[in-house]
Amino acid sequence: MLYLVGSAAPPVRDLGTLITRLQHAGWSVCLFVTPTAATWIDVQALTTHTGFPVRDGGRREDSPDLPDPDLVLACPATFNTINKWASGVSDNSALGLLNETFGLEVGTYVMPYAKSTLAAHPVFANSLTKLGEWGVEVLPNELVRPAEKTEPFLWDRLIDLLP
Ligand SMILES: Cc1cc2nc3c(=O)[nH]c(=O)nc-3n(C[C@H](O)[C@H](O)[C@H](O)COP(=O)(O)O)c2cc1C
Repeated sequence: MLYLVGSAAPPVRDLGTLITRLQHAGWSVCLFVTPTAATWIDVQALTTHTGFPVRDGGRREDSPDLPDPDLVLACPATFNTINKWASGVSDNSALGLLNETFGLEVGTYVMPYAKSTLAAHPVFANSLTKLGEWGVEVLPNELVRPAEKTEPFLWDRLIDLLP
């Protein structure tokens, strides 16, 4: 079971492609998205695709539990979500899950996705260093970014780095 956590950067709009690739690699996938990311995707289509309710912040106290994760992958992870995660901010269900990964003791990967002008902010490097020191596997920033905007995201690069 892989928990995929998406925040509002362009690759989140193509998570259906990544989910298909992960499923072909043998993973069941549950999707968590930030409230902003939820407005960029088709939540209903991805619920059908994964077979599990998408956690988009609308969870109620009596919502059914999901199966336990074997791996957590934050992808794409925005500047905003990475900095909040490293600070322990938990103001949406995607961050809530990311913050719980330390207690769950589950393997956790993050694929940051921030353009160079944002990535230059000193807090960003500091956040990624902290997450790495705490055991999160930090993948290269914008790993799946194609050379041209019109080209597809390079999901193979990500799949190759996952267990
Ligand atoms: C078209 C568009 C593209 C964006 N691309 C990125 C991006 O690649 N990386 C990033 O960190 N933020 C990007 N942003 C800004 C985030 O969407 C914004 O900071 C948002 O508040 C992030 O919220 P979240 O982390 O809760 O998903 C983009 C915004 C827009 C409108």
